[in-house]
Amino acid sequence: MSLAVRFHDQHVAESRTAFRDAVIAGLRARPRALSPKFFYDRRGSLLFERICRQPEYYLTRTEERILVGAADEIAALAGPESLLVELGSGASRKVRLLLEALRPRRYLGIDISREFLLESTRRLAADYPWLEVHAAWADFSRRLALPEGIAGRRAVAFFPGSSIGNFEPAEAEAFLARLRRMLSPGSGVLIGVDLVKARRVLEAAYNDAAGVTAAFNRNLLVRMRRELGAEVEATAFDHLAFYNAAASRIEMHLVSRHRQAICLAGERFPLAAGERLHTENSCKYSVAGFQALARRAGYAPAAVWTDPQGLFSMHYLATP
Ligand code: AVI
Repeated sequence: MSLAVRFHDQHVAESRTAFRDAVIAGLRARPRALSPKFFYDRRGSLLFERICRQPEYYLTRTEERILVGAADEIAALAGPESLLVELGSGASRKVRLLLEALRPRRYLGIDISREFLLESTRRLAADYPWLEVHAAWADFSRRLALPEGIAGRRAVAFFPGSSIGNFEPAEAEAFLARLRRMLSPGSGVLIGVDLVKARRVLEAAYNDAAGVTAAFNRNLLVRMRRELGAEVEATAFDHLAFYNAAASRIEMHLVSRHRQAICLAGERFPLAAGERLHTENSCKYSVAGFQALARRAGYAPAAVWTDPQGLFSMHYLATP
């Protein structure tokens, strides 16, 4: 098997324009909001990797432990010779655990961050010479399709890290329904979902003492400045993350430290002191609540694993 990664470019060609248009629309909106998918340029992806190593961010290590314990059962559910599709492929160790347990013939990583995707899939190709490695550069929140030559095979779609929580519940349901339509019958979805828990634990995870989550949040402004030429100072905004219990979600915002304006593409967006830009929701579920959502999206929940403290859940959803 060659070490080359088969690259499929599914990205919207005008990605910079899409970023600019989304930022302008978000700054015009009330309340002002920016999509969390724009966190992930190369620097943002690296900052996210650092978040995953912070002691307060229990999600990553808990999910990894669940995967280690459940690997054999997952392999039995997935069956032999399947294709492993990773949504939001990162440099994560999690997929390596799965590759070793499932030994699929093909792996497809789909990610919005092109450079990061290439680096991580090249490393996989080098480390697993028996594996046929594919990479698709795509914004899967907008477009979900298996590249030619891969479509039509039974697959396991791996969506780790509770990234599903970054969609609102109705969007999450619509996204899972689209994912189901992309997969052949007999495929499965292995999905990590963060659970509702004490506010103290949740809020600590999004306010790490080392300030990495704050830097990740502000990176959106750094990126706007670098890629779009926006006039904005990242240091003029505070990081704010809190648990909104009524909506079962962590909310992240950037809070203007003083009266100022962001200038972008000839437009001026004035901000009052204390005014917020809403940058992310991270929805938390109960096991039963998420299974109900998965059923509405057309899946049959086949298995669920949690850690002993009930912090995190991993679901195997079968396609009928
Ligand atoms: C990628 N996603 C699941 C992370 C989360 O927990 O919502 C992104 C993140 N935001 C702040 N910290 C981590």
